[in-house]
Amino acid sequence: MSHKKGIETRLAHEGEDRLAHQGAVVPPLYQNSLFVFRDWDDIDAAFADRTARPIYTRLTNPTTLLAEQKIAALAGDGYACRLTASGMGAVSAAVMNSVSQGDHIVAVKNIYGPTNNFINRYLAGKMGISVTFVPGDDPAQFAAAITDRTRLIMLESPSSAVFGLQDIPAVVAIAKKHGIRTMIDNTWATPLWQRCLDMGVDIEVHSCSKYLGGHSDIVGGAIVARPEVIHDIIVNESELLGATIAPQTSWLLIRSLRTLPMRLRSHAESARNVAEFLETHPAVKRVYWPGLESHPQYALARRQLKGFTGLMGFTLATTDLTRIKAFVNALEIFQIGVSWGGHESLVYAPAISYLRDLPPERFSDLGISLGDIRISVGLETVGDLLADLGQALEKAV
Ligand SMILES: Cc1ncc(COP(=O)(O)O)c(C=O)c1O
Repeated sequence: MSHKKGIETRLAHEGEDRLAHQGAVVPPLYQNSLFVFRDWDDIDAAFADRTARPIYTRLTNPTTLLAEQKIAALAGDGYACRLTASGMGAVSAAVMNSVSQGDHIVAVKNIYGPTNNFINRYLAGKMGISVTFVPGDDPAQFAAAITDRTRLIMLESPSSAVFGLQDIPAVVAIAKKHGIRTMIDNTWATPLWQRCLDMGVDIEVHSCSKYLGGHSDIVGGAIVARPEVIHDIIVNESELLGATIAPQTSWLLIRSLRTLPMRLRSHAESARNVAEFLETHPAVKRVYWPGLESHPQYALARRQLKGFTGLMGFTLATTDLTRIKAFVNALEIFQIGVSWGGHESLVYAPAISYLRDLPPERFSDLGISLGDIRISVGLETVGDLLADLGQALEKAV
């Protein structure tokens, strides 16, 4: 068929040869560390490209290869994928592949916390890497931060903390002018809604523990880039640092990817209902979700994103900690938890973390508020989610 297949069809069938596996509709799980060879010449031929044929699961595994093929197809044509043991496994491998001792990184300020700690604390101490953080809402900030040691620009758009966006093509143009590699954490949008590599970004990373997995039953990560970049990461960071995904996790991910488009459409629709409900509620001061026209970068969001997902933030109107706690504790369907992107609705208050080290009076110095709330809108009946938020918000008035 010359017709170009849609992404739902590709996620369902890409790379699968069912008749080669007794007609099994679900691909077999190669739950093994090792693969054996017919003779000397056979293993010698396998070593000619350690990434192509399974030798040992730290490098390659057929179940993982199948999941990688599907994620590469999701990201666009002509790309390759490497799966890792977690999202941080993907971030650390991609960064290590991009910088050497003494190099400089420009990163967006609200990048995921452990990513920030990895480049700014861990690599700074061990490899003398320096980092300049920029707010990211104006591409000129990146241009101004570049030095002759800058090797990497790190984006996260929208950021999962404050939902700020970067103008991806504009930052890519600046980076290309200086020969600097760009990397983006695309976990929030997934490649279904945001085609970063097609916009010119060199490396895209994901936590598969969020929407790509979608069932809150796996921890994994993905790096997607041109095949030569992925090959280099496999034979260096994957082999040497060893944060390899487990075959069973890849197998569960293959299951998850089949329903990604329909899950994301449902998350997007429910999230819009929830965001609009919150925006008009008197107990809510402000809602942070790039799909709302009130979002300061709404025009950029419409240009760059093909859709929106279920993680959003809002600030309660009250600054009374007792009422803020009462709101969180009154929620029945939204459960208290730190992750997001799964089937279940979740709530988290950043103050739970900040109050451990910071008195409430200092919150405004950091641009945060005691009443900041983060929710992950899941796949439950949206009317139930609105009713749950409505009854809990009465405790915050
Ligand atoms: C935006 C973002 N990137 C990366 C990660 C790290 O992923 P993992 O927990 O799979 O290591 C997370 C986890 O919360 C995240 O929110």
